[in-house]
Amino acid sequence: MAEKMGRAMSLSGAYRHFGQTDAGASSPLYESVAVAIADSPDALAVVEQAPPLKRHPTVILAALHDQVLRGNAPELAAAFAARDGAAAAVAAVDALVDLADDIVATATLRQTQTNETGRCAVLYPAIAEGARRVGASRVALIDVGCSAGLNLTLDRCAIHYDDGESLGDPDSLLQLHCARVGPNAVPATALAEVVARIGIDLNPVDVNDEDDARWLHACLWPDQPERTERLNAAIQLSSQTPPTLLQGDALARLPDALAMVPSDVLPVITTTWALAYFSLEDRLRFLRRLDEFAAQHPLVWVSAEGVDIAPAVPTMGDSRLAGHSLVGLAVLAGSRVQVEMVGRCHPHGRWLEWTS
Ligand SMILES: C[S@@+](CC[C@H](N)C(=O)[O-])C[C@H]1O[C@@H](n2cnc3c(N)ncnc32)[C@H](O)[C@@H]1O
Repeated sequence: MAEKMGRAMSLSGAYRHFGQTDAGASSPLYESVAVAIADSPDALAVVEQAPPLKRHPTVILAALHDQVLRGNAPELAAAFAARDGAAAAVAAVDALVDLADDIVATATLRQTQTNETGRCAVLYPAIAEGARRVGASRVALIDVGCSAGLNLTLDRCAIHYDDGESLGDPDSLLQLHCARVGPNAVPATALAEVVARIGIDLNPVDVNDEDDARWLHACLWPDQPERTERLNAAIQLSSQTPPTLLQGDALARLPDALAMVPSDVLPVITTTWALAYFSLEDRLRFLRRLDEFAAQHPLVWVSAEGVDIAPAVPTMGDSRLAGHSLVGLAVLAGSRVQVEMVGRCHPHGRWLEWTS
C-alpha cells in the first residue's frame, strides 16, 4: 500500500512539475490540465495503467488530445477552443477517466512524434552554403531521423528573417518566420536544385495515413495554433513532392539511402534533433560512416542538435545547459574534412545566429 501511494505521489509530482515548469511558460492550457491530473487520484489511476515509459505527461496528453481530434471529447475540445484553462482541467480529467481504455491503448502504441518545420529556417542557409562550398548545382537531401520527412521540402517553403532577408519560394504555402540574432547576416545563397528527398527513421510517419497525420497533430499543444497551421501547410507541401521514407535504424539504412543518389549529385545529410537519441558510440559510428563514404564521393552533413550532441562539431565554449542548439556544417571530400559550427539557434528554429 505504502509503495502504491509512493508511486502515485511521484506520478502526481511529475504531472505537477510538468504543468508548472515545462508547460507553464508556453501552454497555459496544458499547465491547467497537467495540474488537474496531478490532483486527481482517478486520473492518476488511469495514467498508471499505461506502461511505465508511457506515463509521461507528453505521451498521455497527446493521447488525450488525439481523442479531442477524433471528436470523442467534445467538452474538452470546446474548452481548448475557448482557451479556458479551468474548463479544460475539469473536462480533461473526465475524458481521461471516460476514455481510459482508448487513451491507454494509444499511449502504449505510440511514441511522441514531432516534425518541426520551423527548423527549415536554420537548415536552409547551412545546406545552401555546404553545396556552394563543394560547387554542386544538384543535391540529394537525406534526412536522418526524419519523422514524417517534412523538412525535406525546405527548398519549397518561404523563409523570412526579421531583418528583411528571405530565402526559398516567396509564394510557398508554408511561410516560416525566424528572428535573426547577432551581427552577421544569414548567407543569401539560394539552394542548389534538389533532385532527391530521402528520409530515414526508426518509425517514419506517413502523413497520407489518417491516424499517423492526426497523431502528429495530437503531439502539438492545443494552444499553439501557429504550429498546427505550419504542420497543415507542411503536410500539403510534402504531398506535392513526397519523400522516399526508409524505415529502420539510421546506421543500417544510411548505405541504402546513399546508394539511391545519382553519382553526379551531392548527397546532403541532415540530422535535426535526432542524434540525441543515439548512443555516443552510434553517433561516432555515424560520423565514421560519413567519412568512409566521403572517400569515394564528396558529401555534406548539416546538423542542428543540442550543444555537444553532434560529434566533431565544435561547441565554441557553449554549455549544454544554455538550452539553444548548434548548427554544424561538415564538408567531406576525399581527404578534405571541414567541420564547423555555423550558427546557434532556437530548438524549433524561432531564431538563428549565423556565426560563420
Ligand atoms: C525529435 S524527433 C526529430 C524529428 C525531425 N528530425 C525534426 O527535426 O522535426 C527524433 C526522430 O529521430 C528518430 N530516431 C531516433 N533514433 C533513431 C535511429 N537510431 N535511427 C533512425 N531514426 C531514429 C525518431 O524516430 C524520431 O522520429
